[in-house]
Amino acid sequence: MSSRGRRQRAWGIVLEPVLSLRIQWRDALFVRRQGLAPSLANRLLEYPAGAADRLLRTLKEDSQSRIFARFAQLHLRHYGPSGRGYQSVAPSNSDERRARYEGQHSRLEYFVDEFTDLLGYANGDVFLDLGCGTGQNIRMLAARFPASRIIGYDLNADAVSLVRECEEHPGVSVALGDIADPAFRGVALAEPVDHIIMSHVFSLVFGPSMEETIALRQGIIDDLVASCGKSVVILDSVGQPGPPVITIEQRQRATITDDVMGYFAHHTSGRALMAQSDRTRAVIFSKRRDLQSGGQQ
Ligand SMILES: C[S@@+](CC[C@H](N)C(=O)[O-])C[C@H]1O[C@@H](n2cnc3c(N)ncnc32)[C@H](O)[C@@H]1O
Repeated sequence: MSSRGRRQRAWGIVLEPVLSLRIQWRDALFVRRQGLAPSLANRLLEYPAGAADRLLRTLKEDSQSRIFARFAQLHLRHYGPSGRGYQSVAPSNSDERRARYEGQHSRLEYFVDEFTDLLGYANGDVFLDLGCGTGQNIRMLAARFPASRIIGYDLNADAVSLVRECEEHPGVSVALGDIADPAFRGVALAEPVDHIIMSHVFSLVFGPSMEETIALRQGIIDDLVASCGKSVVILDSVGQPGPPVITIEQRQRATITDDVMGYFAHHTSGRALMAQSDRTRAVIFSKRRDLQSGGQQ
């Protein structure tokens, strides 16, 4: 037997009984919840499993709420000056910066090609990219839509300055802005735009608690839907219905997974659908009424 096989067998001796106990434990809780006839094992485990389950749930909730509180502060540091977010951008020379800008790939491009009718992107339309980063999507939009205005905002000054330095499209303008700040959103969304994009940013938007996070995320989607003329695209990971789950990714960055589609559910000015490429998932909200009733232009 190979050393890998021996290792797996040794671990199996420990893990198999643990797995059997976990199954009995879950089963005891299930049988009690459903009011089924309990086995002897169910009866023995019913109370300890119930107590341990409550304890674990409380610990998990407590730990999640601490993660929200701590990382809501750390997030600004991660993307702030000298944060890890874009630490390699500022020290690079101008050739390296241009090579970086031009070597970027847009996560949005796949959806522009595959959902052309639904998105209705057209040359001359106004685009707003919130959390534009170093211009991954701006660069692609600029190349495709020479007569458009393309506005980008980002939290990080180095990212914004890279786009300013390298993008030559005359209709592109980028500035600093924090999507989580309602005052900023009021200003950024005051100008009419056709299409709004948030690409791998929504998972980074959260408040210091679960409740504030849900309210913040719903408020942002409500604002985007109200302000867009034609479409909103959220590219990101998308979770199940239920409360947001926050996951620590690194020292100063945590990410949120939740039911992004759910935030669009009460919006009747358009329709949302989910799609995916091999790089990301997308929630596409379109106000194109001609397509929503099944007709084509
Ligand atoms: C993972 S990068 C994605 C960049 C780009 N949109 C893309 O698709 O590649 C996340 C970007 O979101 C920005 N960001 C994070 N939180 C933000 C906020 N509250 N307001 C504005 N930008 C934010 C970060 O500075 C970073 O540039």
